[in-house]
Order: sequence, then C-alpha cells, then structure tokens
Amino acid sequence: MITATRVAGQGLSPIRRMSLGAPPDAINLGLGEPGWAMPDLGAPAGPTPLAYGPNTSDPELVRAIGRYAGALAGGSTPSDTSAPVTAGHGQSPGLSPDQVMVTAGSQAALFALFSAYVEPGSVVLVPDPGFVAYPTLARMCGATPVGYPLGAGGDLDAEALADALGAHPHTSLVVLNHPANPTGGVASAAALEQVARRCDERDVLLVSDEVYAELWVDERPTSLREVTDNGVALGSMSKAFAAPGLRIGWATGDPDVLAPARLVHNAMTTAPSRLSQAAALALLESAEQVLPAAREEIRTRWETVDVIAPHLCRSARRIVGERHPATLPRTAGRVGFYLWLPLPHDVEEHGRSDAATTETFALRLRDEGGVTTIPGTAFGPRGAGFLRVSLGGPIAELEEGLRRLAPWWKA
Ligand SMILES: Cc1ncc(COP(=O)(O)O)c(C=O)c1O
Repeated sequence: MITATRVAGQGLSPIRRMSLGAPPDAINLGLGEPGWAMPDLGAPAGPTPLAYGPNTSDPELVRAIGRYAGALAGGSTPSDTSAPVTAGHGQSPGLSPDQVMVTAGSQAALFALFSAYVEPGSVVLVPDPGFVAYPTLARMCGATPVGYPLGAGGDLDAEALADALGAHPHTSLVVLNHPANPTGGVASAAALEQVARRCDERDVLLVSDEVYAELWVDERPTSLREVTDNGVALGSMSKAFAAPGLRIGWATGDPDVLAPARLVHNAMTTAPSRLSQAAALALLESAEQVLPAAREEIRTRWETVDVIAPHLCRSARRIVGERHPATLPRTAGRVGFYLWLPLPHDVEEHGRSDAATTETFALRLRDEGGVTTIPGTAFGPRGAGFLRVSLGGPIAELEEGLRRLAPWWKA
C-alpha cells in the first residue's frame, strides 16, 4: 500500500511530542487546555435525541451561535452587563442560520475551509509563529504554507501581511489568529480592516481564527466581524467555555462562502455529536455566567505569575518594549493563557537563539527542571528564542510549575 502524498511526511504534533517524552513527575505547562472546572449546568431537561439530526446541526444551537457571534460583531459580548444581547434568549437577531457553520471543533472548520479553498500548488499565508495546524493543513491540501511575520508583542502587522500577499500571487487563503497562539498578540480594528480589504481585492479567502477571543483580562479584543462582513471568523467551545472535549466549534461568514466548506464537513463527519450539541447549547445559554467566570480564571492565572515569578512577565514585556517601546504600556500578553517567554539571557548565543538552542533548552527544562513547555520553533522558525508556557491548567500545577521555572531566569 502506498500512503497518499498528502499525509506523507506528516508527523506527531511537536506539542504532543514534548509531552510524550516527559519524566512522570514533570508538570505540564505545554498543553493549551483550560484546567478550570466546567460550570455545572444540571441535567438536561429531557433525553437528547440520538437520531442523526440535521447535517447543519440542531437549529437551536445554530441560532444561539448566530446570536452569540452577532453580539461580538456588534462590539459587545454576551456577558457584558451593558450589552442587550444574550446568546440563547432571542433578544437579538444576530447572524442568520446560513451565516453559521457548526463544526466538530474549530479544527474541523479549518479542515473544511482549507479543503474547500486551498488549491494544490497554491500558497497559504500563515502567522509565524502560529498555531501548528495551519501549515499542516496547507500541506495536506498540496499547498505551500508561507509564514508571515508578526509585529511587536505578536500583534498583527497588516503591512507585513500585505507584503507577503504581494510577494505570493498564487495565494489561495490567508489565516489570522488573534488573540494569538502562541504569542498572545492581538489585532487592531485598523489592521483587520486593511487585511480584509487586501484579501478582498485579491479574491483570497481570509480566515480569522478567534477561538481565544473571550479570554481577555482588561480589554476585549476586536473581532473581524466588527469591521467587515467579508472573510470567515472562527469560534469554539474549547477555550472560554472550557469544554474542548465537546468538540464543538463554528465558522461564520457569507453563506455562499460557507457552502462548499459545509459539503466537506458533512462528508467528513455528517454533524457533531448530538450530545455535544446539546451541551454546547446549554453553555451558550449560560454565557452570561460562564464567560465572566472564565475571565476571572484567566486574571487569577496572570496574577499568579506576577506573584510567583514576576521576572518571567518582565522578561516577556522587555522583548515587546525593545522592539517597539510605544507598545510597552499595553497590558502586554494579558489575553488568552499563553506566556510567550524569551530564553534566559545566559542561554542565548550573542543575544540570539537558534532553533537548536531553543529546543535543547526546552528539553533541559523538561528533563532537569521538571516542567514541560513548548519550544517556540514548534510554531514556526520565527519562534526561535522563545518558549510557550501555558497558564491554562489547574492553578496548583501552574504554581508548582512556575516555582520550578523561576530559578532558570535571573530575577
Ligand atoms: C489558535 C487555535 N485555533 C484552533 C484550535 C482548535 O480548537 P478546537 O478544535 O478545540 O476548537 C486551537 C487549539 O488549541 C488553537 O489554539
């Protein structure tokens, strides 16, 4: 048997690889997974029907996501006390059902969109550093992933992206991720507008991955949906709703743009599990309680770093400030749950770190220091010199992990 070319050369994700070789007592600050308890929503009102159900998912869930995403598009969140919109209660029309595609996690939305729009031989522009699935999916579609650089603090740099688009005339799809994994960077409304306009001019699909959007500390990040109806925005139950195991995500956009991706998703999995759909609906209906509680969990985690290892936060901010002093006062990195941490000075070679130095140091931290982190190079070549530290897990593990990390950096 011959393995299809599209999967040849694909391996285990570097994130899973770091976890697999870890000593048994290592603290895992590698996985990007919320570690706080899911809210107890009580037993469902009746039995969940277990027939196949509509390919487009339960209409009630579709409407609830439409209201939820519509609230974001209106610049509010379903949990803002000032916002009149409440997901699940029908007070806002939100997005129409054909503007919503419910998927088996946002990962399946990415798969469906890439399969529908990425031609073999084309280029997919991905953030570097960026979420590991983007280049993998591009390669699986026979395309070449090309990384575009991010700006200060990992924020979207619209000019750099425009340059990349200009340099690659055969681009089929552009991915944005904000708040970003792994850098915690965000995208300004102006940058989003500019990128959306460029993609529109070039007739290239823009996918804005916003799965961390609700996990902010002081300032709610801007959604693509607030600045344009063009492009596709992604959301998920996996991060702010702390329910990655449900495998429920969604894409919102123009119905004609979503239509070919729906075909792929239906061919792949028909529709997400109905048990998961029911649980996702219950969570969305409780968004007003769930989301502020999730943000509290995030605030507590960043405060925990401030208390146990403030020099790690200072070190992360120093890099932002060095590159672009004007951005320093921003609550740098305080959105989402990743600390994008530069290697200690004494590990860097002449103020720089290459891939080998970064990966060797991450392995030393894991095997000698007892803490698993992810070397920045897992997210692209521009991640050299950094580690991704996930603050999302249980607080007690985070505290112990930070205590173990702290001595490796000079206070
Ligand atoms: C940036 C980003 N996008 C998408 C996903 C996939 O999330 P899910 O499929 O659980 O919705 C992840 C998961 O870590 C992520 O970090």
